[in-house]
Amino acid sequence: MMTAPLRSEPTTVNVALGNRAYDIVIGRGVVASLSARIAALKPGARLAIVTDENVARVHLETIESQLSAAGMTTSRIVVPPGEASKSFTSFERVCDALIAARIERNDLIVAFGGGVIGDLAGYAAASVRRGLDFVQVPTTLLAQVDSSVGGKTGINSRHGKNLVGAFHPPILVLADTALLDTLPQRDFRAGYAELAKFGLLGDAGFFAWLEANWQDAFAGGPAREHAIAIACRGKAGIVARDERETGERALLNLGHTFGHAFEAAAGFSDKLLHGEAISLGIACAFEFSAKLGLTPQADAERAVRHLAAAGLPTSVRDVPAVKTNADALMELIAQDKKVKRGKLTFILVRGIGSAFVAPDIDPAQVHAFLVQKLSG
Ligand SMILES: NC(=O)c1ccc[n+]([C@@H]2O[C@H](COP(=O)([O-])OP(=O)(O)OC[C@H]3O[C@@H](n4cnc5c(N)ncnc54)[C@H](O)[C@@H]3O)[C@@H](O)[C@H]2O)c1
Ligand SMILES: [Zn+2]
Repeated sequence: MMTAPLRSEPTTVNVALGNRAYDIVIGRGVVASLSARIAALKPGARLAIVTDENVARVHLETIESQLSAAGMTTSRIVVPPGEASKSFTSFERVCDALIAARIERNDLIVAFGGGVIGDLAGYAAASVRRGLDFVQVPTTLLAQVDSSVGGKTGINSRHGKNLVGAFHPPILVLADTALLDTLPQRDFRAGYAELAKFGLLGDAGFFAWLEANWQDAFAGGPAREHAIAIACRGKAGIVARDERETGERALLNLGHTFGHAFEAAAGFSDKLLHGEAISLGIACAFEFSAKLGLTPQADAERAVRHLAAAGLPTSVRDVPAVKTNADALMELIAQDKKVKRGKLTFILVRGIGSAFVAPDIDPAQVHAFLVQKLSG
C-alpha cells in the first residue's frame, strides 16, 4: 500500500500536436524547475503571470521570487476567481494588461491557476499580437488532467460556455501535484470526476486501479502523480489522433451531455461544480446505457458506486440545492446538442472502459429515463 508523499522523478507526457507538440511535466515539486525550463525554451523572455486571487494568495510569491532570482522580469495580472472571469470583460482586461506590460512576440505568458485561468490566459495568448507563447502551470486537479491537455482555450458568451475561443496549445505544462495540497477538497473531488472519466471511457485497468488507490491520490500520496500521468497520457493520445474532434475526441464528452444539462439547471453556479455535474452525467450515461441493454447493469452499478465512494453526487437527489425535472433537462439537452433528424447524439458505454458515440438516440427514450431517474 502506497501512502507516504514521496518525491519521485517527474513523468513527462508529450502531447503530439505536429509542430505544436509540447510536454506536460508531472510531479511533486516540479514547479521549482520553472525558471530553468523557461530559460531553456525562451531565453531573455519577459514574463507576464496571469492568475486568480485565490492562487495568488497562496502561491504567487513563491514562483515570482523563483523567477526573479533567476534574473527574469515578471509582471502579474490577477483576476477574480471563478467562472465569471471567462468573460469578454476579463478578456479585454487581460489583453490590455499584456499590451501595457509590453509583452511581445519573444516574451511569454504564464497561465498560473485552474481551468478558468488556463482558458482565459490561453485565449489572450492566442489573440494578443496574433499569438504569443504561453506556459501553463495548472493548479487544480481538473486543469492538470483535462484543460491543460489539447490546446483548447476560450471564454464564455452570453449564449453559453466556451463559445468563443481558439486552439492554441501551450509550449510547456508544469503540473506540480503539490500545488493541489491547498486546493479545497470539493474542487479536488470535482476534478476527480474527470480523472475517473478517463478510466470509464477507455481504460478499464486504470479504473480498477483507481478503485484501489483513489484514497492515496486524494491524500497526496504517489498515487496522485501516477493517476494524473495516466489520465494526461490517455487524453494526449486521443487528442493527438483527433485534434479537431472529428471522431475519437468526442468520447472525452462521456457524461457531458447529461452533465451540461445539470450544470445549466444549476445556473452554472457553485451549487454544482462542473466536475460534480459530470459525475451526475457519467452516472446517467451508464444507467441509460444499462436501461437500453447496451451495458451490463453490474458495470453501471460499479461506476456509480465508485463515484459515490469518492464523495461525488450520482443523483440530483444528492444535490438538494439543484431543483429540476425531466422536461427542463430535456430542453437543456436539446439546446446543448444539435438535434439531427429528430435524434440525439450521446456518448454511451458497452461497459467499464468502452465508451462509444451513439448518434441515433430517440429523445423520448432519454425523457423516459430521466423521469425514472429523477423519481428514484
Ligand atoms: N480547455 C479545456 O480543454 C478545458 C477542459 C476542461 C475544463 N475546462 C474549463 O476549466 C474551467 C474549470 O476549471 P477548474 O475546475 O480548475 O476551476 P477554477 O479555475 O475556477 O478553479 C477552481 C477554484 O479553485 C481555486 N484554486 C485553484 N487552484 C488552487 C490552489 N492550488 N489552491 C487553492 N485554491 C485554488 C480557484 O481560485 C477557484 O476558486 C471551466 O471553465 C471549464 O470550461 C477547459
Ligand atoms: Zn468536463
